[in-house]
Amino acid sequence: MLNNITHTTRMPTPPRIADRFVPFGASIFAEMTRLANQHRAVNLSQGFPDFDGPEVAKLAAIEAIRAGHGQYARMSGVPELNRAIADSWSKRGLAPLDPDAHVTVTSGCSEAIINTLVGILNPGDEVIFFEPYFDFYTAGAAMAGAVPRFVALHPPRDGRGAFWFDEAELRAAFTPRTRAIMVNTPHNPTGKVFTRAELELIAGLCGEHDAIAITDEVYEHLVYEPTLPHISMATLPGMWDRTITLSSMGKTFSLTGWKVGWAIAPEHLTAGVRACHQYMTFSTATPLQHGAAAAIREPGEYCAQLRSLFASNRDVLSEALSRAGLRVYPSHSTYFLMADHTPLGFTDDRAFVSHLIEKIGVAAIPPSGFYNRRELGRPLARFAFCKKRETIEEAVLRLSALRPV
Ligand SMILES: Cc1ncc(COP(=O)(O)O)c(C=O)c1O
Repeated sequence: MLNNITHTTRMPTPPRIADRFVPFGASIFAEMTRLANQHRAVNLSQGFPDFDGPEVAKLAAIEAIRAGHGQYARMSGVPELNRAIADSWSKRGLAPLDPDAHVTVTSGCSEAIINTLVGILNPGDEVIFFEPYFDFYTAGAAMAGAVPRFVALHPPRDGRGAFWFDEAELRAAFTPRTRAIMVNTPHNPTGKVFTRAELELIAGLCGEHDAIAITDEVYEHLVYEPTLPHISMATLPGMWDRTITLSSMGKTFSLTGWKVGWAIAPEHLTAGVRACHQYMTFSTATPLQHGAAAAIREPGEYCAQLRSLFASNRDVLSEALSRAGLRVYPSHSTYFLMADHTPLGFTDDRAFVSHLIEKIGVAAIPPSGFYNRRELGRPLARFAFCKKRETIEEAVLRLSALRPV
């Protein structure tokens, strides 16, 4: 039978992709990492460390495998992990959580994002995103059939300070159909930490419009400015009842491949998250949940050392990019910084990044795909500094060959 199939005469079969995914195309992260490998470029594109996470997590996961924890986990999470997450929340002085009722373990923050958008929103509901955004948000809104509205985060006018948004634009984004706003703080890709005043403004608008806040806090432990502490929206007066807080252990413990995340919310919002989660993955890899619980319980000095490495990587890379002629915007947190390449004469982010990868041997991300108004991202490039110091130093060496076009 198989011999009768001739591949040579067949027309290529067009890809079968549901309409809702067609606008999103292929992931920019996979594309840039592939190009970086092809050109042997130092990969400062995709946000993952080039070193391993803490032993405490790995040993606990191995032990869990040896101990026979090989079956499905509880849908809402392995009890030890739910408890560890709830305890670390209250250790930060936040209101006590019921680990079983308020915490849902998911396969990375990515799954928590999709569970929340799909589990909470109905077709036609509006959801507000700040742009640039993590690209899962708009894909999640499309899966839910929800309508995205966008509010721009602008680079600091004087090149110093932080990315900012216009209050009038934010107010205008809220309509009678608004059901939710997504707040990513600390923010990928700008490195912005939302201030208390900004969060209070958003909280007030949520109250006025009876909307919920979905907060993506995956970089909560990677803030480098003591004057800009991370603040969880759920801790603002009146906001616990209308906030779903999302996070994961991937960034905090340099174990992005483990994909263990969670959603924290009051029961009435947890209901929506779990309604989707039970049919999305049902549960997350059991041994990795045991590993995550151990790391959260006994982080030791790991996070403090990571912060110190990343803060100094950020400084070294910022200086090299400035020397090369880019306008570098301050990053106060996360894995990333944004820089304006137009002083070098490039007009487009993809053209700049292609040149950087192919001619200089350093990969970055062209961020226009993180904007609804693509033109806002065209002058910019995103660089990841979540790497070994040797990797950053090699990138710095190569960047010294960058010249205006
Ligand atoms: C803002 C933001 N949210 C969520 C995620 C995904 O988190 P996880 O790897 O835990 O799925 C990322 C990863 O890059 C991110 O930058």
